[in-house]
Amino acid sequence: MEFNPNTAPEFSPSATIEPEPEIDMEGGVSPYAPPEAYAPPSKDEEIPYENMHPFLQEFIDEHNAYTKELNVFEATIAMIEGGNVDKTMDERLRQFFSYFEDKVVKHNQDEEKYLFPRITKKMKAEGEHSKSDNNFTVIDVLEDDHVKSIQLASVAFNMFALFSRVPDERSRYMILDIALNQSKELLELLRVHIFREDTIIFTYAQRNFSDEELTEIQQKTKGV
Ligand SMILES: [Fe+2]
Ligand SMILES: [Fe+2]
Repeated sequence: MEFNPNTAPEFSPSATIEPEPEIDMEGGVSPYAPPEAYAPPSKDEEIPYENMHPFLQEFIDEHNAYTKELNVFEATIAMIEGGNVDKTMDERLRQFFSYFEDKVVKHNQDEEKYLFPRITKKMKAEGEHSKSDNNFTVIDVLEDDHVKSIQLASVAFNMFALFSRVPDERSRYMILDIALNQSKELLELLRVHIFREDTIIFTYAQRNFSDEELTEIQQKTKGV
């Protein structure tokens, strides 16, 4: 999917934005609630960070860094929604979308390339798949999240960019509404996603792979 924050036009909200009616994102059922369709491995007792293999610690460290960026993005969205917009919003949005494109997309690719296939294989061998579909595991949900997050980020980014270019005020605010809604969905999706990986996947990998296996996977990520 085309997603390049560096080539898109500047998002320059004017300082005269009027607060739009609040969009209720909390009222309905979240589209990103954990689906019932699969039977995730039962959540075992958590394993402390220091007892995780360094390969898994790297993913956890990235999640922590990435959560900080999500918090800043959330604050930016709230400021724009509240009408408190100034020139710094453009830079803050640009920074988040660049981070998403450079770091988050790479993180997702590493998971999909090195970790997920090994977990899928193990889960299927252990019978940890959906009750209705032997080929469907929690990993399918996580990969689907990766795709959806790129779609949401792409629409949000493009709508913010479009907002600054449309002269008609009514259209501008409709576009801004879409950008804000997509951004909130993106935030919700990424947070649930991080939670699922931290609590289900990394714990599963630590319990079900030996240190040697995890080291071997880690070396592949480094091209050893
Ligand atoms: Fe992921
Ligand atoms: Fe992740």
